[in-house]
Amino acid sequence: MRVAVVGLGKIGLPLAAQYAVKGASVIGCDINPEVAGAVNAGACPIGGEPGLPEAVAQAHAAGRLRATTDTPAAAAESNVVVVIVRVGIDEANHTDLSNLDAATKAIARGLRPDTLVILESTVPVGVTRSHFGRRLAEGSGLSLTDFRLAYSPERVSSGTMFRDLATYPKVVGGIDAASGEAARAFYEQVLDAEVLLVADAETAEFAKLAESIYRDVNIALANELAIAAEALGVSYKAAAAASNSQPYSHLHAPGLGVGGHCIPVYPYFLIEASGQPIVSLSRQINDSMAAYAVDKLAAAFDGNLAGRRVLILGLAYRGGVKEATLSSALLVADALRQRGARPLIHDPLFTATEIESYGLEAADLPPSEPVDAVILQALHPEYKDLDLSALKGCRVFLDGRGAMDHARVQAAGMRYIGIGVG
Ligand SMILES: NC(=O)c1ccc[n+]([C@@H]2O[C@H](COP(=O)([O-])OP(=O)(O)OC[C@H]3O[C@@H](n4cnc5c(N)ncnc54)[C@H](O)[C@@H]3O)[C@@H](O)[C@H]2O)c1
Repeated sequence: MRVAVVGLGKIGLPLAAQYAVKGASVIGCDINPEVAGAVNAGACPIGGEPGLPEAVAQAHAAGRLRATTDTPAAAAESNVVVVIVRVGIDEANHTDLSNLDAATKAIARGLRPDTLVILESTVPVGVTRSHFGRRLAEGSGLSLTDFRLAYSPERVSSGTMFRDLATYPKVVGGIDAASGEAARAFYEQVLDAEVLLVADAETAEFAKLAESIYRDVNIALANELAIAAEALGVSYKAAAAASNSQPYSHLHAPGLGVGGHCIPVYPYFLIEASGQPIVSLSRQINDSMAAYAVDKLAAAFDGNLAGRRVLILGLAYRGGVKEATLSSALLVADALRQRGARPLIHDPLFTATEIESYGLEAADLPPSEPVDAVILQALHPEYKDLDLSALKGCRVFLDGRGAMDHARVQAAGMRYIGIGVG
C-alpha cells in the first residue's frame, strides 16, 4: 500500500511514521523543503514528541518513509492520500481554508481514479463533501464517484501522539458507503485502535467539533463557577471535588484561559454555521479570564500595577508543548500592559528570539532583575518544583493553573492568588 500524507507537521509526521512502521510505503508531502529534507535524511524536524525521532529513523532506514514538496507526483503514485494541514480562523474568527485549498489544488493535479482520499484536519461540517471533494473533482477532471472520499478527525494531542493513536477510537465517515468502508479498512491496517465507522462524513466532522466544544464550554462553566465561588468565599477546587464524587458531575478545572489552535478555534466553525449562544458565550468567558486574573493581581497591589515587573511563566498554551497560537500568555501580557505593568516571559521551550517574535520581552529563570509578581501560565514540567526562593523581590504569585501548593508559596514570603480561591 502506498500512502501520501499531506502536511508533515506536529500531527502529520507522526502519522506518516506510524503508517510506515505498520508496513505502508509512505511519502510525506510538505511545502517546506527543510521539513522534506530532514525526513529524507532520516532526521526528525519536530521536537517534543516522544518516540517520533526513533519512528522516523526506523521507517526511513527500512525504506518506507520519504518526503517531497511535489504533492501532485506523490498523489499520483499513492493508493491513499491523507490530508492533515492546518485549518484555522482569521482575525474576524471566520474559517480560513487557504492551506487546505492549496493542498487540494496540488493533490487534484495528481489524483487518479480509485484513490482513497481522507481529510483529517478539523473542518466545518460539510467541508469534506461540498468544498474539498468538489474542488478535488474540479481540479482533477474526475467525478466525485471516481475516487473514494472520507473524513476522519485527528483526535490526538501532540506530545502523546503514539499513545493516543493506539488507544483513541478512530472515527471515520465516508461521503458514501464504499468510501467509509475503504477508510475503515485503511485504518484497521495502520492503527491498533478500534475504528468507529459513523453514518457519513458530516457525522464525523460534527463529532470532532462537538468534542472540542464540550471542552471549551465545560472549561467556561468551571471558570464561571470559580468566579462565583470566590465571591462566596468557597474553594472551587474543594467544592468541585465533592461535586464530582457523583457520576453525573464532571466539573473541569478553571484557569487563565484556553489556548492553542484547536479548542479556541473550532467553536467558531459551528458559530459561523449556526450561532449557538452557549458556544459563543463560552468563548467570551474563556478569553476574559486573563484580564480577570490580572485584575486580581492588581488588587494585591492596591489596584495599581503601573511600573510593576511581572514574570509570566510559559508562553506555550499548555505545559510541555512548543505551541503559542492563541496562548493565554498573549492575553495576560496585553492585560498587564493595559494596566501599565511590564510583562516579562520565560518559557523553557522557546528561545529569546522566538519569544520576542511575539512582541514580548524574554526573561531568564530566575530573572536577572527582581520582579514584583509571577504568573504561572503554562505548567511545564520545569515549573513543578520551581525554586521560589530564587524569585527575589517577588511579592505575589498568581497560580493560573491551580498547580502550586499555597503553603509553599506563602512560606517563600509571597502572597498566593489562585482562580477559584477567595
Ligand atoms: N496540534 C494538535 O495538537 C492537533 C490535535 C488534533 C488535531 N490536529 C489537526 O491537525 C491539523 C494540523 O496541525 P499540526 O499541529 O500538525 O500543524 P502544523 O502547523 O504543525 O503542521 C502543518 C504542516 O502542513 C504544512 N503545509 C501547509 N500547507 C501545506 C500544503 N498546501 N501542502 C503541504 N503541506 C502544507 C506546513 O508546512 C506544516 O509542516 C490541525 O489543523 C488540526 O486539524 C492538531
